[in-house]
Amino acid sequence: MFQSKIAGMGYYVPKNVYTNNDLTRFMDTSDEWIQERTGIKERRFADRIGETTTTMGCQAAKQAIERAGTTAADIDFIIFATLSPDYYFPGCGVLLQREMGMGEIGALDIRNQCSGFIYALSIADQFIKTGMYKNILVVGSEKHSFALDFSTRGRNVSVIFGDGAGAAVLQPTTQAGQGILSTHLHSDGQDAEKLAMYYPGASGGQFLENQPTWPDQELGGMLMTKKMLDDGTAFPYMDGQAVFKKAVVKFPEVIEESLRRNELTTADLDLLIPHQANLRISQFIQKRLGLKDDQVFNNIQKYGNTTAASVPIALAEAWEEGKIKPGDLICLAAFGAGFTWGAALIRW
Ligand code: UT7
Repeated sequence: MFQSKIAGMGYYVPKNVYTNNDLTRFMDTSDEWIQERTGIKERRFADRIGETTTTMGCQAAKQAIERAGTTAADIDFIIFATLSPDYYFPGCGVLLQREMGMGEIGALDIRNQCSGFIYALSIADQFIKTGMYKNILVVGSEKHSFALDFSTRGRNVSVIFGDGAGAAVLQPTTQAGQGILSTHLHSDGQDAEKLAMYYPGASGGQFLENQPTWPDQELGGMLMTKKMLDDGTAFPYMDGQAVFKKAVVKFPEVIEESLRRNELTTADLDLLIPHQANLRISQFIQKRLGLKDDQVFNNIQKYGNTTAASVPIALAEAWEEGKIKPGDLICLAAFGAGFTWGAALIRW
């Protein structure tokens, strides 16, 4: 049985910076409110035309592949995590395969929102362990800006999110004790509707409290109607407080689970890289686990919440800043829509 390691990482954030003050041009909000509740100062938004979830994913992937000392031609499997794909279908995996001129390798799309990258990493780890693949490209990328409600109506959601992409190349390692030690995946669909984008969807919103009116016809027409656009239900919905309350319980739980599984404790942890959901959530986890400031990495201040991209962007940035050294114990953890959550414990 092989063990997998992250051989290279990369990230890409669009050039367009939007500060909190910039958002006040579109909605009734303030720098003070956003910073106090979320810690976010600014975020990046992709070009409206020309830049997509896939193109950003490709930029991050190129850097990760180069840093892994390999080439696109050597990648033997793609796993692409996103909640904001270029198309309803097919997923971004095949678009990246085409864009990067890769061979006819497998491409898998993951839709586990904020924990998408952890799920993707876990799947890649299993494929490497069994020896099925030797160079897996794992990508997390999001273009939230195309779908958010930037009016006052959508301010509780739209001020939090940003665009960007991160990527990693996983390879087998023969060095004992190095690489991904374990991954831990969880879900609880009880509150699936508390953080969701209901449309376009095959339920047509029939289980929602606020049901849409569907066109009077025998078949079809339930995926997206004008009313959904008019009343704002076409935009992502979030019950922020419900998400917050669950996140601050499940994050510490899964981090401790990963440490326990490996007979380690929080004192052994060199760096925790939590999904950048909200700085207050990260601070809560830090306090709850009794971690020092230099044991937790945060960059939400600059990028906002980039969902599936946030963990790989933070991982690549922490590595660039020299905060990850060989032999370090790194924990990646995420919680988000579904709800789904997970952690990966890595010996660098
Ligand atoms: O990645 C995983 C997914 N997401 C998360 O982890 C998010 C978790 N939740 C949160 O981070 C927080 O719940 C938020 C930051 C989203 C919201 O903070 P909150 O303290 O829960 O605010 P709230 O939604 O309860 O709203 C409080 C007030 C309301 O006004 P009233 O009713 O008290 O007068 C809102 O209308 O703040 C108002 N408000 C805003 N005001 C200015 C909501 N959004 C804004 C805004 N600017 N952007």
